[in-house]
Order: sequence, then C-alpha cells, then structure tokens
Amino acid sequence: MLTQEENELVTRTGPGTPMGNVMRRYWMPAVLISELPEADGAPVRVRLLGERLVAFRDTSGKVGLVEEFCAHRRASLFLGRNEENGLRCVYHGWKYDVNGKCLETPTEPAGSNFKDKIRLKAYPTLEMGGLVWAYLGPKEKIPPPPKFEFTQVPDSHRYITKTWQECNWLQALEGGLDSQHTSFLHKALTSDRVRSRYGQSATGYRARSATPLHDVEETDYGLLFAGVRPLGDEGNYVRTYHFVMPFYAIRAAQQGIVAGARRPIVAGHMWVPMDDENCMVYDWLYSFGEAPIDQKWREEFEWGSGRGPEDRTADFRKVKNRQNDWMIDRKAQKTLGYTGIEGINTQDHAIQESMGPIVDRSQEHLGASDKAIIAMRRMLVEAARSIEKGINPLGTGSEYYKLRAIDKILPDGVRWQEALKDEIHAGMTPGKRLA
Ligand code: FES
Ligand SMILES: [Fe+2]
Repeated sequence: MLTQEENELVTRTGPGTPMGNVMRRYWMPAVLISELPEADGAPVRVRLLGERLVAFRDTSGKVGLVEEFCAHRRASLFLGRNEENGLRCVYHGWKYDVNGKCLETPTEPAGSNFKDKIRLKAYPTLEMGGLVWAYLGPKEKIPPPPKFEFTQVPDSHRYITKTWQECNWLQALEGGLDSQHTSFLHKALTSDRVRSRYGQSATGYRARSATPLHDVEETDYGLLFAGVRPLGDEGNYVRTYHFVMPFYAIRAAQQGIVAGARRPIVAGHMWVPMDDENCMVYDWLYSFGEAPIDQKWREEFEWGSGRGPEDRTADFRKVKNRQNDWMIDRKAQKTLGYTGIEGINTQDHAIQESMGPIVDRSQEHLGASDKAIIAMRRMLVEAARSIEKGINPLGTGSEYYKLRAIDKILPDGVRWQEALKDEIHAGMTPGKRLA
C-alpha cells in the first residue's frame, strides 16, 4: 500500500507537480506518425500530462506540437488551417509556426510589430519508430533520443496501436507489471486450443505451473524481473520483463514456446498520462529476427486482444468501455471466459478502469505476487522526492537502448540473471538483488 500522500505524489502529473516534473524529463509518444501522414494535413489534438496541445505537420514536413489555444482570444487551433509553414487560427487569422512563433496578426494595423511579442508554448518533437515523440521538460535537460530496440527495426518488423484508457496511468502500468493476473483475468473456460476473444486457453508451460516465483532486480533504468515456473525434470520456464522509468514495459512474447514454433517477437507498452484520469496506452511488438511480422498472425493477435479496427473509435477510445460496462456478457462469463468480456486487452482496461479514476492505494493489501509493483512504486516515490534536489531520474540516459525481453527453459539450478544476461540486456550487469 501507499499512504494517501504518497498516492497523490506518484499519480499526479500536471504542470508543477513532482511526478509531472519527473515525467517531463523523458521523451514521450505524442501521436502515431500515421496520424500526421502528410504535409499541411489536418492538425491533431494531443493531451499530455494535463496539457492540451495540438500537433501538425507543416509544409516542409516538420512536426509542431503547440498549445491548443490561440494566443489572441483562445480559440482552438484544432479547427485551424494548416497552410504555408504555419497553423492559422480561423477566428481572426493569426498564424503560428512549429516553434510557436506568431507569424501574422492580420487584425492589427499595417506596420504593427505586435506579432513579435506573441508566442505559443511549443515543445520539441522527433520522429522515430512509427511515433512522434515529444519532450516537455527543461531545455538543458533534454535526454538522448528514445532508441528502444523497437524503434530501430524496419517498419515491416514493427506494429503499434494505441488505445485511450479511462483511468490514471499508474494503475494501468501496474496491470502490466503484474504477470500473475494472466492466470485469472484472461482465463478461457473452454479447452479449445484456438484462442478466443474471451481468454487464453489453459495450455502450455504457464498452465502447467500456475504460480511462478518472482525475481525482481533494480537496474539503472528501472527494474528487471522474471516469473520462474518449475517444470520438474525439464527445468524452469523463465519469462523476463523490463520496466523502464517512468512508464515503459518490455515483455517476452515468443508465444511459439506453447505452439511449438518460436517467433523472435518482443512486445511492450507505454502508459502515457493524458491527464490524471486518462492515459493513452501504446502497445507495440516487433520482430528482432530476419523475417518481418506475419500480417495474418498480427491481425489475429489484434483481434484476440480487442485492439482490432472494429474495437475502437476514430479518437482511439474503446467501443466496449466503462459507460457500457465493457459489454460484459454474463452467459459467456459462465461458459467461455473468466470475465465474460471480449478482448484480452479490453479485459485489462476494464479491470483497471473498474477501480475508479485514481485507485486509493491506502486501502490495498499487497501480497507476494505484487513484488514488482512494490519495487516500481518505491522507485517512483524516490524519483518524485529527489527531482527537486536536482537528482536525475533513472532511465534518462541511454541505458535501455539494447534491452530485449525473452522467455526460455533453463536447467534447474542455473541462474537466469547470468544465463540470459547477453540476450536480455546486452551485457549490462544486473543491479541489486531485491528478492
Ligand atoms: S482567437 Fe485566434 S485569431 Fe482570434
Ligand atoms: Fe493482462
């Protein structure tokens, strides 16, 4: 549990809050590149850390990210005209460039230099790995570019979707670090091996040994942890995860271990705070092998997740959402899947949104399986408390660049931290052993 004071400290990310100051030290995804496909195309609304912004691609191809409201009388620039290297407010024609500089104030007398005094708040952006990233922090603290491995593979080897989640970012992230819930929340009730939208079939190593041991280690980017499932004579099934500060997770997704055909695929998530009661979840996967992602497999995976095109609205909200109780089907809950909610991902969102906009962590009772969550929260509290003293938060360098998460069967008695070192974190030395 956290005290109410700690809970406030780690969940609030608006301007001027301690956690907001921590968040403003990282590159964060703002939009998918596919949302800004062409020069002078339609601007897009962006909400980040409680700030209302608008993104647009100008005539030269540069992406601007500026405050949403015009400096004149605060009309929304989402309605603006994107023309000749600037975004023009349609109320009285004031125009701004990608740096927020006011270029024209046509309502002022000829010869007026009024425009030179006007500026919109604007943030630096960069395009990498299918995403437009933004940096909202102090200029002198800008970190190196976010070269996660998934951003460095060809576009054909990567797939990213995004979904609006209607709750605070932290309870969403906590669901991602909690590997134990898979055996319950996502359980299918039929023995059908075909994956349905109601749950995952109880086959494979995860089903044979339902209660993994959890190893969690602190690193200089966040946490490295693993679920270890004993398989008797065969050894141990080890599934690794990385948590990179402040909201990135990388997990093993070589689903083939169960199906008998391993795929060199890694998956992950980014839980980006829009404001304190909403976050945008970016889900990605990539192939680190020679072959690109098999599109048929990918479409089935998205369908099973509840992240297919039919599952979301144009602004990335869910069709099955808290307003309609995620379309829970009580009959299916008795016969098909543990929740009666369709879509593995929708199940995650439903259960996290069901806690309310910001869960009260002073009321919890954490157990042995919550070890990674406890370690992660400790790290966030520490970061929020030390940022004011000028201490750089973890993961603001390039420590995470080569990280990869894999799963493997290892002989009993072999330490996974040693055996998998080169494969999962490019030769870095694991940090302090926590448990
Ligand atoms: S409000 Fe934008 S130009 Fe007047
Ligand atoms: Fe889940």
